[in-house]
Amino acid sequence: MADGRLGDGDGTRVVRAGLPEEEPYAPPMPGPVLAAHYHLPGDPADAPYTYGRDDNPTWAALERAISELEAPGDEAAHTTVFASGMAAISAVLLSRTKPGDVVVLPSDGYNLLVSMRERLESHGVTVRTAPTGGDAQLEALDGATLLWIESPSNPGLDVCDIRRLVDAAHERGALVAVDNTLATPLGQRPLALGADYSVASGTKALTGHGDVLLGYVTCRGPEPAAPVRLWRKTVGAVPGPMETWLAHRSLATLELRTARQAVNALAVAEALRERPEVRDVRHPGLPGDPAHEVAVRQMRRFGCVVSFTLPDKAFAERFLAALRLVGEATSFGGVRSTAERRGRWGGDAVPEGFVRMSVGVEDAVDLIADVRAALDAAGRG
Ligand SMILES: Cc1ncc(COP(=O)(O)O)c(C=O)c1O
Repeated sequence: MADGRLGDGDGTRVVRAGLPEEEPYAPPMPGPVLAAHYHLPGDPADAPYTYGRDDNPTWAALERAISELEAPGDEAAHTTVFASGMAAISAVLLSRTKPGDVVVLPSDGYNLLVSMRERLESHGVTVRTAPTGGDAQLEALDGATLLWIESPSNPGLDVCDIRRLVDAAHERGALVAVDNTLATPLGQRPLALGADYSVASGTKALTGHGDVLLGYVTCRGPEPAAPVRLWRKTVGAVPGPMETWLAHRSLATLELRTARQAVNALAVAEALRERPEVRDVRHPGLPGDPAHEVAVRQMRRFGCVVSFTLPDKAFAERFLAALRLVGEATSFGGVRSTAERRGRWGGDAVPEGFVRMSVGVEDAVDLIADVRAALDAAGRG
């Protein structure tokens, strides 16, 4: 509902996104439709719903909502929801490539892109990688057929100039997909920056409660959506109606959550910067951060993730154990703060003391006190 007459503020749009017109005595948000099949008399060609793996009204409502947020006012925006972020990523990378193609991936993106690279190569696709920062992917674009951007990158929080990379890729005839997980559609609109696909894990800040796995792909028009939708149906990477409904319900608080989390994240980053034992504090909203200048140009909110490096692995482990308000967990974007030592997974090129923290909606003053106390405790050994 990007209707200017009703107001275009983010908070106004999220509470109504994807909802049907009001009807007397109907609930504002219809419940989840749990259906493996639908009554289907006669010719199925024109039926809106046929079989539960193909379509579902609860998916359709969330898809409308995400389209309204990713591309406000763009009637042609088209979203396909998936069982997880990886299902959405796989749908674009595997349905839009063929043997002989050249794909450019970030070298510092979400660590499962390493498995994606192996999968693509096993299908005869050539994969090149380059870091996100400094727009280094530009150097790898000649002959490319698809550019994959992750900005801000996870976990390093580097940012690239999406518009610049999109223009360069399109000049060479390459498609561009942007992983918009960290920013959320309220923080960044890849389609408005020229990208062909905005892809995200809805598991993170989009849904924000740590209780749903979900992914989506938004593009402009049915044509680029068709292979992605067919991929979903073919591999069956469909979200459950209950998860889909929970995700839609969570959207109503997306503005409140992301606004509070962004303020908290900046406050935590600034507090961390004051500590001598903490190095390389990164957050795109932090003035002086290497990503800040480009982030200010293309992002409207800077997300809830802060990364930083502690002296070593043992120090980081003591710090994480001493935190009381911040749970040790992977993932990010939730209302409850979490943190982890990324080196424990082995997949990211980060120092042993590197910590990724996801800042929640608690009171900033409490979070900062907790972080300072945990640093003190870790320093005592
Ligand atoms: C940037 C990014 N993209 C995609 C994914 C994958 O999402 P999911 O866990 O929902 O499959 C993640 C997961 O952490 C991520 O951080």
